[in-house]
Amino acid sequence: MKVCTTVQEMRKVRAAFGTVGFVPTMGFLHEGHLSLVRKAKAENDAVIVSLFVNPIQFGSPDDLANYPRAIEQDKALLAREGVDMVFIPEVSELYPSGFATSVEVKDVALKMEGASRPGHFAGVATVLTKFFNIIAPQKAYFGQKDAQQCAVIKRFVQDLDISVEIKTMPTWREEDGLAYSSRNARLTAAERAKAPALYKALCVAQTLVHGGERSRAVLEAAMKQVLLEAGLSEIDYATIVNPETFEPEEQITGNALALLAVHLGAVRLIDNLPLLP
Ligand code: PAF
Repeated sequence: MKVCTTVQEMRKVRAAFGTVGFVPTMGFLHEGHLSLVRKAKAENDAVIVSLFVNPIQFGSPDDLANYPRAIEQDKALLAREGVDMVFIPEVSELYPSGFATSVEVKDVALKMEGASRPGHFAGVATVLTKFFNIIAPQKAYFGQKDAQQCAVIKRFVQDLDISVEIKTMPTWREEDGLAYSSRNARLTAAERAKAPALYKALCVAQTLVHGGERSRAVLEAAMKQVLLEAGLSEIDYATIVNPETFEPEEQITGNALALLAVHLGAVRLIDNLPLLP
């Protein structure tokens, strides 16, 4: 497995590959990331993974500083998966002095996560536009846990005529339902014990919908009750949205997504579940 740290070297090495499947990550890899890598490996001649904690998508300096990192462990995991190349640029390599460009997505990027974390999706869209330009992958792989991120990426890729196919893969969950996330490592034992309530709340909404319930107010109340009963009172949002626009849906008509963001101490977790098959 080759490791590249500069844009120039990355472009040169990539030119030797045929079709490339790209898995962008911020490192501290877990099973969810590895499932993307395996899919990319099955569908392309070569797989490139980036390990880059992108500072411009973090709102708070503390969140950036506390984001878990384990580069050597990540490299070992990726080598074991047969990844062809890992791209690990320094911040100054991607954002040299004088860098002054931002890819701003409107509409879908301004709701929910976009409203709670202003600037977050511009940071994601900017770094991915750079990666797509540098690596020129045929396909790029993302987890459905970040459902709104997937919708934002599909939007700017289409709007900017970027030639890459965006593939989204189902959320990987621990046995108790907690979605894999690099942030889970920062939960205390007590917080980790409460965290499965996120998935439980989503499942309660799904069960109600399968039973015929269609009202957002009823579904929101049911999700919040599960969270509160588990001792999770710092609810950023727990709601039902259209999966393409991320507009809240008063009455569920077609596809709808139950979506939530909850603070557990210093950690903010998100999760989602489609409500109709
Ligand atoms: O989902 C992530 O880990 C990040 O937002 C991404 C896509 C790697 C961009 O920094």
